[in-house]
Amino acid sequence: MSSLEKLAEIPQSDLPGHIAVIMDGNGRWAQAQGKPRAFGHKAGVESVRNAVRFCRQHNVQALTVFAFSSENWKRPEQEVSLLMELFMLVLSKEVKNLHKNNVKLQIIGDISAFSERLQKQIIKAQELTKDNTGLVFNVAANYGGRWDISQAAAKLAEQVKAGELNPEQITEEKLHQMTCLSELPDLDLLIRTGGEHRISNFLLWQVAYAELFFAEEYWPDFDEECFARASLCFANRNRRYGLTGEQIEQQKK
Ligand code: IPE
Ligand code: IPE
Ligand code: MG
Repeated sequence: MSSLEKLAEIPQSDLPGHIAVIMDGNGRWAQAQGKPRAFGHKAGVESVRNAVRFCRQHNVQALTVFAFSSENWKRPEQEVSLLMELFMLVLSKEVKNLHKNNVKLQIIGDISAFSERLQKQIIKAQELTKDNTGLVFNVAANYGGRWDISQAAAKLAEQVKAGELNPEQITEEKLHQMTCLSELPDLDLLIRTGGEHRISNFLLWQVAYAELFFAEEYWPDFDEECFARASLCFANRNRRYGLTGEQIEQQKK
């Protein structure tokens, strides 16, 4: 029985509502075939389409993918420009389709570092899909978890400066409200493809109680069967949030 078939038998309430993915391994996938890294990034786009389809078909509320980290600027200039071009192209080509499928697209990260053209494209895409009620699809671009937390702190500092907030009123909840994705359900499942076991400065705040799933497959090979495997694994985890197993059993009754 395939993981996809098994997944069909799991109740919706046991499945992740918010999935995030560190889409790693494009470069190695291409290099393993003697091709340039760019070839892997292009193949990675197809995997993103599959991921969106999987989430729509399985009623996932939110999908958040890591497309470009704040550290990825340090890559060779040629690779950075290719990734930017690809981002432009995908935005202009795919947005209509996302819109047709009722997907709400949001970009998270410091977009001020991108070209005017790309920034305009991002704003236009978000504007077009903002009232859609289906899957919320977040693309993290020039995103860093530490950036996210520090920009949240800066927003609270502004409120303190304006006399709207006392430092004693700063709580986890207040800071949370200023971080990216705070309007969405908490992250349930974080998947990293490509065999590395690290977070690479992705959603540091949001990952607090997410379940982690590390896959050996490079991102271009991560298909819907792999997504089903990760979701099944999630369904079998025991999330205790600091409580004892007995307390959790009690709550279920
Ligand atoms: C992930 O694949 C995509 C981006 C970081 C943009 P990589 O480009 O990191 O691929 P590997 O890890 O070098 O194989
Ligand atoms: C993380 O992958 C960033 C993205 C997937 C966009 P990296 O390839 O940049 O991470 P490291 O350098 O292996 O930690
Ligand atoms: Mg990598």
